[in-house]
Amino acid sequence: MKTIEAIKKRRSIRSFSSKNISKKILENILNCGRLAPSAKNRQPWYFVILKNDIKNEVANLMIDYTKNNDESMERKKLKVPSSVKETANVIKQAPVLILIFREKDDNWLVGDNLSIGACVENMCLRATDLGLGSLWIRDIVYVSDQVAKMLGHEDLELNCALSIGIPNQKPKQRPRKELKDIMEWY
Ligand SMILES: Cc1cc2nc3c(=O)[nH]c(=O)nc-3n(C[C@H](O)[C@H](O)[C@H](O)COP(=O)(O)O)c2cc1C
Repeated sequence: MKTIEAIKKRRSIRSFSSKNISKKILENILNCGRLAPSAKNRQPWYFVILKNDIKNEVANLMIDYTKNNDESMERKKLKVPSSVKETANVIKQAPVLILIFREKDDNWLVGDNLSIGACVENMCLRATDLGLGSLWIRDIVYVSDQVAKMLGHEDLELNCALSIGIPNQKPKQRPRKELKDIMEWY
């Protein structure tokens, strides 16, 4: 697939077949993440690949979080995004969850976060290229400390996650702002 096709075809997928994805294919996708550019070439990412029960445990932490925080968040007039529970259910459905951790070095916070964005988008595009679906996930940050502890990676910070699997849906392209409305020339 040409790059432009993958860019245009990629969608956030929220319904997956339960069919497993081979280690070889996952390594191919992870390798495309690894090849992304990074600020100062720091390559601040670390991947942990979860399947089956341990993946579902992470999703359950997110669901528990929405339950436990309802009251205290209400008092603070804050709202846990309703998407957290929905995203947790997508995580359960998809056969694979890639966790993307960031090196805990706040001197490089902005650069490292930008670099991780490039890395994850490379993986999303490669997944599209291979006929797979992906969902880039931020909603996991509410339980980032618990997940890091569960996996013995308190030295790292969970930045985001990526569900991968065979898509069970074909969403239309979501709306985008017109180019003319988001640029100016001098
Ligand atoms: C950094 C980032 C975090 C996201 N986090 C979530 C998430 O936690 N849950 C979810 O359902 N979608 C998440 N999305 C998907 C966006 O909702 C989606 O990209 C957007 O609505 C545009 O749709 P599209 O990806 O199909 O073009 C995230 C996307 C990005 C780039």
